[in-house]
Amino acid sequence: MEHFISINQLSSDKIMQLLDSASSFQKNSPTFSKQIFAANLFFEPSTRTKMSFIVAQKKLGLEILDFQADFSSLLKGESLYDTVKTFESIGADVAVIRHEADDWITELSTGINIPIINAGAGKAEHPTQCMLDLLTLYQEFGSFENVKVVIVGDIIHSRVAKSNALALQRLGAKVYLSAAPGYEDNSLDFPYVTIDEAVKLCDALMLLRIQHERHDTQYKTMDYLENYGLTKQRENAMRNHAIILHPAPINRGVEIEDELVECSRSRIFKQMSNGVYVRMAILNHVLKEWGISK
Ligand code: CP
Repeated sequence: MEHFISINQLSSDKIMQLLDSASSFQKNSPTFSKQIFAANLFFEPSTRTKMSFIVAQKKLGLEILDFQADFSSLLKGESLYDTVKTFESIGADVAVIRHEADDWITELSTGINIPIINAGAGKAEHPTQCMLDLLTLYQEFGSFENVKVVIVGDIIHSRVAKSNALALQRLGAKVYLSAAPGYEDNSLDFPYVTIDEAVKLCDALMLLRIQHERHDTQYKTMDYLENYGLTKQRENAMRNHAIILHPAPINRGVEIEDELVECSRSRIFKQMSNGVYVRMAILNHVLKEWGISK
């Protein structure tokens, strides 16, 4: 039995099965015959991931144990391990965790006997965001084969870029990166293009937020938009069918011009809706894998 930590641990078939489940859960939600407790342990801020996990858990009929890190015994020096072990001891059946450390799972790799779902690990991985991005692309194109996706922005500090680039490549998409100087990630072996090249070649433009909380590199807002972001002029150069994605939160007017956030090409709010269904599918999957539900 594995924790749900990295998109790379899932086979391509398993990813497709989870996408199928997510699609079916849009129409019908499974319910469980016994009481199941889910602990949401967010040590880093979140709006979408946390709230869509809560909606997913409510749709599945789970009991939710909320946790406020700022009012917890973390402030008395309790460790991440002891916090999760406490939730396990009081009856949590599954823990959803977001933490600023890239490798927080290492501390939990032995001794924890409930499934853990990664809701964001530092700059390293965001597998549930990846799954909702995959669902959004699959709904749009019906396949990943040869779909040209350009991931644009603060690549080096982005857990979304790392999860998505590798998963998309494995599923047959053509992945490109585009970044301002200082935001490239040479550990990812994909071709770089300029933003002007990106808009002309892409089927999907996946914009990323500048992760100001993780570094001090500063671009002036207008300089960044003009040189590296999606302006209306660049949006006009996109192919007719091409779409815009962004994991959000969005720096409006920085990586994307304000009016484009809700334009007809944008699937940004669709991504958020899809987040509920992929998280239902992931919860259902881990609860079954661990024998907690039938
Ligand atoms: N996309 C995403 O992870 O958003 P939150 O930080 O609001 O959860």
